Amino acid sequence: MEKVRLKIEKLIYGGSGTGFLEGLPVFVPMTVPGDEIECGIVKRHRGYAEGVMLKMLGPSPNRALPKCEHFGRCGGCQWQHMDYASQLLWKQLIVEEQLKRIGKFEAPNVLPSIPSPKIWGYRSRIKLHKDGQGRAGFYAGGTHDLIEVKECLIADVEAIKRTPSFFTQINQEQNEVLRTEVAAAVKGLGAETVLELYCGNGNLTFPLAKVVKNMTAADSSRSAIDNAVKEARKNRVKNINFICQPSKAVMNHLARFHNKFDLLVVDPPRNGCKEIIEGIKRLRPEAIVYISCNPSTLARDLKDMGAFGYVLESSQPIDMFPQTFHIETITKMILKQ
Ligand SMILES: C[S@@+](CC[C@H](N)C(=O)[O-])C[C@H]1O[C@@H](n2cnc3c(N)ncnc32)[C@H](O)[C@@H]1O
Repeated sequence: MEKVRLKIEKLIYGGSGTGFLEGLPVFVPMTVPGDEIECGIVKRHRGYAEGVMLKMLGPSPNRALPKCEHFGRCGGCQWQHMDYASQLLWKQLIVEEQLKRIGKFEAPNVLPSIPSPKIWGYRSRIKLHKDGQGRAGFYAGGTHDLIEVKECLIADVEAIKRTPSFFTQINQEQNEVLRTEVAAAVKGLGAETVLELYCGNGNLTFPLAKVVKNMTAADSSRSAIDNAVKEARKNRVKNINFICQPSKAVMNHLARFHNKFDLLVVDPPRNGCKEIIEGIKRLRPEAIVYISCNPSTLARDLKDMGAFGYVLESSQPIDMFPQTFHIETITKMILKQ
């Protein structure tokens, strides 16, 4: 194996550290910007290489001692070896990098990440896998090899016992912050009529309904919408029209009948909302608030929106997933043409 001396300069979305070998980016898992390492080159590709840390020559001052005995083998966490302030900073920088590189925004306004109230024991949902011998655990990063896990330090054991049949945000304390931030963003935009797609059980819909005149909120999950309707009835909320339909069908229908909304709110799954881009072009809401858990698909979708007149006002990372590379953001796009 080719061995080189490498200084780690940045982190990429996915969690690896990156150093440069005569301009070629080398991605090395489990490293921190500032580390000086002896690196083994595992594979060279066109435009980048994969490396592995063979020896630590000089550690970054931002290193932290991982708390969990499974860290490094289990694929659940990637960043326990980095202090929390650096995790927050790199989430902000990664969003900025993705918006520049994929979204083609020259100088995107990415705000400092909002820290999570809890950085351990926050996760109310985990997916344990079982093997033939009944052992439970997580898969090692990028594989289906089971790592038996007796205790998970980011899991909130009590909350996990209450897992419902539809999507819920995994960090309950930080979810309260997310709801407040989204409602403040919408209020700040002065919208009266709001269309919300990918609304789930109404997690964001209910706080939004308090700051706008009326809302239409849709999701493809029957159980999530049933739950939302029940909640609206229980609390006598009268200004939300819940629809159980896939987003693309909702958009097509609304555009065909020339419905008008001041604002569109979307909170799609990891693969983003490419399916509704054409619908947005036809509906032309004055602003869009995009909640995303994947900055790559976010950047791709924002680029498409930019092509028909939306301008990026700000993107606010909010840390729902401490100790991991995962990033949640609230982004505001305003129609300028
Ligand atoms: C990231 S979750 C957001 C849910 C909600 N906003 C929340 O905060 O709990 C994404 C939601 O998209 C829904 N979904 C997935 N694909 C969809 C589609 N094609 N059309 C409509 N909803 C979809 C899922 O059922 C899920 O509720």
